[in-house]
This record gives sequence, structure tokens and C-alpha cells, in this order.
Amino acid sequence: MLNNISELPLLYTGKTKDVYELPNGNILLQFTDKTTMNEKGEEDPGGNLVGKLVEGSGQACILMTQHFFNLFEEAGIPTHLVSVDVKNLQMEVKRVSPIGEKVCLEKGSGVEWIGRWIATGSFTKHYGKYIEDGRQFTAPFVHTTLKDDMRNDPYIDEYTLDRLKILSADKYQILKGYTEKIAEIMKVEFMKLGCELYDFKVEYGDDLQGNLILIDEIGPGSARVYKNGKKMSKIEIGTIFQQ
Ligand SMILES: Nc1ncnc2c1ncn2[C@@H]1O[C@H](COP(=O)(O)OP(=O)(O)O)[C@@H](O)[C@H]1O
Ligand SMILES: [Mg+2]
Repeated sequence: MLNNISELPLLYTGKTKDVYELPNGNILLQFTDKTTMNEKGEEDPGGNLVGKLVEGSGQACILMTQHFFNLFEEAGIPTHLVSVDVKNLQMEVKRVSPIGEKVCLEKGSGVEWIGRWIATGSFTKHYGKYIEDGRQFTAPFVHTTLKDDMRNDPYIDEYTLDRLKILSADKYQILKGYTEKIAEIMKVEFMKLGCELYDFKVEYGDDLQGNLILIDEIGPGSARVYKNGKKMSKIEIGTIFQQ
């Protein structure tokens, strides 16, 4: 699928990927070896800063996304994936409108869906009065944050999303169901590899027909995974999907 990206219109430069428009109306995601980190300079799935370049991280991201998105499709969750060119770090995807685009006052709307099996990170930072770090959930715990680097990705609930006309309550329930299913699939998949999934994040959008579909990526930077009680680095997670 090698596309000469210098001839394509660049729509957006993200923290880790560049987004181009293809002549057929689809989108080309050009992955890079850029990684994200949090304000303390640590690897963090919710990190909003561009961290160091890590060789191979773009490829690991594509391979892991391809692996999981295929499993999600088999389970009935529609995704934006059209085709993948691992060598050139490119992914062709269906074009979507990110959630909340119509009512967004600034550039770059979107909602992040977080699925948790073990409470940690920003979750216990917020709710530490009622739940200790490391507590296991018996069913996936799903919640939402706004994609908003300037305002530190605030937590937002179904009621507020609905009242601000970002996402209707009906659609919220559909996406909650998808995210719970994704949580189950990923947990089982990592368990087979002797690893434990703590949490992950995904994004959805509306395709041109108005259907909700899973978008973006699920790479080593989108999930916290532990092995033998130790947090795996992005490189360690990525290596699993390299074969
Ligand atoms: N199918 C799609 N259609 C339109 N935009 C998409 C699609 N898939 C992903 N995106 C957007 O493209 C951007 C990818 O680049 P990324 O580096 O992840 O950006 P960010 O810094 O916003 O996280 C994201 O903002 C993501 O929401
Ligand atoms: Mg991103």
C-alpha cells in the first residue's frame, strides 16, 4: 500500500501519528516512533506529552492494533481498520467524525474510554478516599474522560456528555457495552501470555453512515500490563506482538 505521503493533504499532526487524507476518501495514519509520557516523565497510557523516540515503537503499535482490532471485529465490534502496511508504518482506516465534533468550540474533540480491571493511576488519585491502589474489579470498570490536553483530560459522566450534547445516553450505553467486551477480550488474551491487564484506553467515532466504530489504535502505550507483579515497559509489551 506504500503511499507517497508527501503528495497527500496532511489533516492533523498528533502526538504519535500523522493523519493524511487519501484520494479514496479514507484516512492514512502514519505511525512514528514518538511515544507519550506524563508530566513526571513516566510512561503513562494517559500521558499528554511527547516523550522520547523509541525505535520500533511505531511498528509494535501497528502490530498490536492489528492483532486486537481483528479479534474485536470477530466479536462484533466494528472498527475503522481497512488495511495495514507494517513495513512503512501506515494504516488505512475509514474516516470518522470524532465524538462531540459538532458542538466542540476548539479543534480536536473526542472522548477516551477507559476500561479497568485493577484500580491504579488517575483513578485512585481521584477516588483514593474510597478505593486503594491495586484493588481488583470482578467486572470491567468502564468510564470516560474528555480528550483535552489543555484541561488535563477531565473525567466526564454519561449525564454530562448527554447534557452538553457531546454524546447521547443511548450511544453512551452502546459504547460502554463495546468497551466492556474489549476489556474481556484483552484480559483473556494477555492471560494466555502469562500477563495481567490493569487498564487500557480506546476511542470511537461516527463513520460517514453514522455508525459508531472503534478508531485510532491500541498499542503498547494504550494499556498497563503486568508480568510476575512487575509493570511491563512499552517495549516489552510491543515485543509480544512482533512475532
Ligand atoms: N479513523 C479516523 N478518522 C479520523 N481521525 C482519526 C481516526 N483514527 C484516529 N484519528 C485521530 O487521529 C489522531 C491520531 O494521532 P495521535 O498521535 O494519536 O493524536 P493525539 O495526539 O490527538 O492522541 C488522533 O487525534 C485520533 O483521534
Ligand atoms: Mg493518540
